[in-house]
Amino acid sequence: MASVFAHEPVLLDETIRHLHLHPGSVVIDGTIGGGGHARHILGKLGSDGTLIGMDVDGDALRATKRRLEDAGVLDGRVHLVHTSFRRVGDALASLGIQKVDAVLLDLGVSSHQLDTRERGFRFAEAETHPAPLDMRMDPSSGQSAAELLHRASEAEIEGWLREYGELPGARRLARAIADSRDEHPLETNADLLRVIRETRVGRGRQHNPATLVFQALRIAVNDELSALREGLDAAVAALRPGGRLVVIAYHSLEDRIVKRAFRAGENPCTCPPRTPVCICGGVVTLRVITRRPIRPSQDEVGRNPRARSARLRAAERVALEERAA
Ligand SMILES: C[S@@+](CC[C@H](N)C(=O)[O-])C[C@H]1O[C@@H](n2cnc3c(N)ncnc32)[C@H](O)[C@@H]1O
Repeated sequence: MASVFAHEPVLLDETIRHLHLHPGSVVIDGTIGGGGHARHILGKLGSDGTLIGMDVDGDALRATKRRLEDAGVLDGRVHLVHTSFRRVGDALASLGIQKVDAVLLDLGVSSHQLDTRERGFRFAEAETHPAPLDMRMDPSSGQSAAELLHRASEAEIEGWLREYGELPGARRLARAIADSRDEHPLETNADLLRVIRETRVGRGRQHNPATLVFQALRIAVNDELSALREGLDAAVAALRPGGRLVVIAYHSLEDRIVKRAFRAGENPCTCPPRTPVCICGGVVTLRVITRRPIRPSQDEVGRNPRARSARLRAAERVALEERAA
């Protein structure tokens, strides 16, 4: 049974503060999910602001539309677009908007996606209530985790487990998955869990190996890290000078990409050390506002355990003329 679409917005006050909103702002919520942040963003935009809410999950958009309607805030200020934040530029062009004042990317999966058992994102209860191994954030396109595991080479699977799950024993598990699917395709989360258990990878480590494997597969199915890299570029290109970019990441792979992109935007010069004058032509695009990522308080984690791993980083778009020093 699908749960009610609800998502407790993570680091809400910090997000709103760093987005620097004012009446009339044009804002992209690139991951509108359950509309948790969006409702509060709308409260800051006055009557002539604009919110462009994007998500790859059509269910999320439909549910958010209803929630905003019920709250009486769905009006001409709101545009909901079913697309990836990689395509921020196309979404803006289709709305005839050139530049925006703020972009929010609250990465990963929503509570609704996690809690909807049949979408296959989790393995809790897999043995008693097996669910299809799907894991697509956009179930209307792409390949499910089961299809991916069926078609991928053993080396590809090993690469995902190693790179996206940082799983000790990645090679052994990839081999076991390949052997197992020859006999019986891995169709449910219970099938995958069985292979993980039998292989005994990552035992005694801090993280449950199944958590790492499911994370790795989810990242591969949704091509999450490439989407993030492209999404960050698209967001920076969409911002007007002085506009704000706020990103909330939930694991170190994502956070590292955000940190590097922000650093490269602030210090794009790739000239060799001691080059007297910059010749690489790097253009400064960002000023980093959060030197260290902002973490949720203990209080917030107590209220919402899913906030536990959140890290928020914010940057400001600088005027295009600024060149690398
Ligand atoms: C953590 S939830 C966002 C929750 C939202 N901020 C709220 O308060 O309700 C992440 C959402 O981002 C969406 N998402 C993930 N990758 C995306 C992408 N590349 N483009 C657009 N949406 C994406 C997911 O489908 C999910 O609904």
